Amino acid sequence: PIPSLKELFKNDFLIGTAMDARQIRKEDAVADALIQQQFNAVTPENCMKAENIQPGWDTYDFDLADQLVAYAQKNNMKVNAHTLIWHSQLPAFLHKIQDADSVRMYFENHISTVAGRYDGKVYSWDVVNEALNDDGTLRKSVFLDKLGDNYIVEAFRLAQKAAPHTKLYYNDYNIEQPAKRAGAIAIIKKIQAAGVRIDGVGIQGHWKAGAVPLKDVEESIKTFGALGIEVLFTELDLTVLPNPWDHSTADVSATAQGNEKMNPYATGLPDTVQQTLAKSYEDLFKLFVKYKKQIGRITFWGVNDGQSWLNDWPISGRTNYPLLFDRSFKPKSAFYKVIATA
Ligand code: XIL
Repeated sequence: PIPSLKELFKNDFLIGTAMDARQIRKEDAVADALIQQQFNAVTPENCMKAENIQPGWDTYDFDLADQLVAYAQKNNMKVNAHTLIWHSQLPAFLHKIQDADSVRMYFENHISTVAGRYDGKVYSWDVVNEALNDDGTLRKSVFLDKLGDNYIVEAFRLAQKAAPHTKLYYNDYNIEQPAKRAGAIAIIKKIQAAGVRIDGVGIQGHWKAGAVPLKDVEESIKTFGALGIEVLFTELDLTVLPNPWDHSTADVSATAQGNEKMNPYATGLPDTVQQTLAKSYEDLFKLFVKYKKQIGRITFWGVNDGQSWLNDWPISGRTNYPLLFDRSFKPKSAFYKVIATA
């Protein structure tokens, strides 16, 4: 049998995976067995996002989210609910609302209804997701525009009221980078200064194989940890493909299909790249183990390469290899490097 990540790291941190509709509905028995064997934490990849869980002003759809919670309960896994307040994947009706009072009413209803329903059933919430620009300033969004820059503190205050038994996290990408990290620290300190509870900060961890910012990650674990909160790695995956927005390595006008430059590994991953990926995962996990006292959870953004969002982002139709299990659920060299750090 394949060694189990959750067993190997059970005294260090939780080991999680994202689950999307296919996995929640157990459409693939192999995936299901692997999830149960490897992970003790799950994050809904899409079903708890605002557009899905509250598609209309007065309409909620809890079906998949409830199934995920039941699945986790049955298999003794912790659910990190994702996410209450985010500028993206918002319901269409919200984009049509112009007045601040209605936005505020939506904001309060959404947080209390959704967080309230799952209190005591989920372990934690990503209360606010991706509120920062890379320079550390607050990102433009309907919430910033209509509610003002106190909206993050307000979101945590409402979540604390609705979900007193649930851990509350701020989650974002690139916050290991100094400028954006400073923005995250300011958010956390502001919440704390308001006397509102924040239990942790999630670093998403969408990095590039061979270019993981290890020094910044280490500095971030130390600095965030010093604020008295948990550090989580919440959406870990390491792309092996060129970024179409990066003019130095890629062709911005590219589409993926049949484009060797943008989709170079359509027929398989060369061994050299496989090793680069494995090394990056090994370096990261060495760091995670070193700081296990500060770290609450490491979650992979998907179970295997075939179902990763990175096959379709930032351009669609590519073949990516960012995770520990390949398209037939076989552990890759990266998996073996990771378990050797335990
Ligand atoms: C992604 C999902 O993986 C995709 O299926 C969806 O189409 C878009 O969102 N940061 C986040 C996640 O916080 O919610 C995003 O998930 C990936 C980036």
